[in-house]
Amino acid sequence: MKVSIIGQGYVGLTISVFAAEHHTVVGFDKNQGVVDALNAGISHIEGVDSDDLKKWITAGKFKATTNPADIADSEVVVIAVPTPLSKDRKPDLVFVEAACKTIGENLKTPGLIINESTSFPGTVRNLIKPEIEKHSQASIDHLYAVSPERVDPGRTDWNQKNTPRLYAGLTAEASMAVRDFYSTFCDNLVEVSSPEVAESAKLFENTFRQVNIALVNEFAQIAHALGISVYETLDAAATKPYGFMKFMPSAGVGGHCIPVDPSYLAHTAAELGVPATFIERANEVNLEMAKYVVDRVKADHAGSLSGKKVQIVGVAYKPNVADVRETPAEPVVEELKRSGAIVSWSDDLVSSWMGEKSAQLGGCDIAIVVTLHSVTSATDVLKSAPYVFDTTGKVKGAHSL
Ligand SMILES: NC(=O)c1ccc[n+]([C@@H]2O[C@H](COP(=O)([O-])OP(=O)(O)OC[C@H]3O[C@@H](n4cnc5c(N)ncnc54)[C@H](O)[C@@H]3O)[C@@H](O)[C@H]2O)c1
Repeated sequence: MKVSIIGQGYVGLTISVFAAEHHTVVGFDKNQGVVDALNAGISHIEGVDSDDLKKWITAGKFKATTNPADIADSEVVVIAVPTPLSKDRKPDLVFVEAACKTIGENLKTPGLIINESTSFPGTVRNLIKPEIEKHSQASIDHLYAVSPERVDPGRTDWNQKNTPRLYAGLTAEASMAVRDFYSTFCDNLVEVSSPEVAESAKLFENTFRQVNIALVNEFAQIAHALGISVYETLDAAATKPYGFMKFMPSAGVGGHCIPVDPSYLAHTAAELGVPATFIERANEVNLEMAKYVVDRVKADHAGSLSGKKVQIVGVAYKPNVADVRETPAEPVVEELKRSGAIVSWSDDLVSSWMGEKSAQLGGCDIAIVVTLHSVTSATDVLKSAPYVFDTTGKVKGAHSL
């Protein structure tokens, strides 16, 4: 089949290389730099190997493009564009709407349109379908489906092939078509009764993580006040063989999913007039962690960080990726600057961030570890400053949460 994938980021490129084994893939992206790099066989995503990409380009199974006309006569079109929050933390579907316009104007034969972008329930039925129809010739009847993406960038044990994939079509015919497509490269497909169930399940998965992370972040504060180790206490609780799942405290949550998706669910709740108290409180607790961390460091420095040189170690939002979207390092930096500290940062995987280059590890009065990549030595970090505060639980001997 000819498969066009709108958006060649973490989700779209990952799907592209898996689909290319069985189909001819057009990777459409509006970013010319991304497209040029992909066509030169250079992957910009952890987990997508440049050699794989080159293999599919050489075999004529993959090409990237900024030309929307290239998606014409695709049998399948997958939407994989960002779904961020607006400044007032409301769902912002401007990229999805733009993708719908591209599809409507350029897909001139009936196709299967699948949304993999995370969004609130009703997006496929009430937004994507009408929006594509608005821009299409009246005579074209596409099939519509949703299959929320669960990729965890940088992870090798769970991938596109073995991670169970939820799906639902707007019609029975669409459900069958979406199953046929994914079954070519995914071993475990789970059909649900409506697109709204699939869309809601994705939001609930990430909300579950957000709430549990907030709970453990709150517990870390209680444990510290009690004078006990949060890590030892969590390990102790985790010896219970059932009914407990271990989450780790941190400087906050980051990435495209955990800080964002729960707000999509809260938005739906608000529209329905149902309270989303847990979601909102969890968000607040996680956002407040940056201040808590800086307050702890401040308390160890006679209540003032004014003029102190502080280095953030690890600014990616999680270990072993170079992704800085919504990174908790950012509020930590802001909080430190508000306290009068002179802030630098060092990250072995992120070369530039917030207009600055990564600094060499060391040379500061204080180091605060936000993310520890596998390539970064905990021993070196411990030696990098006279005072080290670790929010990851991995730098033994440092001050910690
Ligand atoms: N990154 C993850 O781990 C992950 C996991 C599961 C789900 N998701 C969801 O998948 C969706 C995509 O996320 P991502 O991480 O791949 O984003 P990304 O920012 O890595 O990539 C998105 C790409 O889409 C392109 N784009 C934006 N608007 C476009 C348009 N109108 N036409 C063509 N290209 C366009 C951008 O240039 C970019 O290259 C989001 O809804 C996200 O929440 C992400």
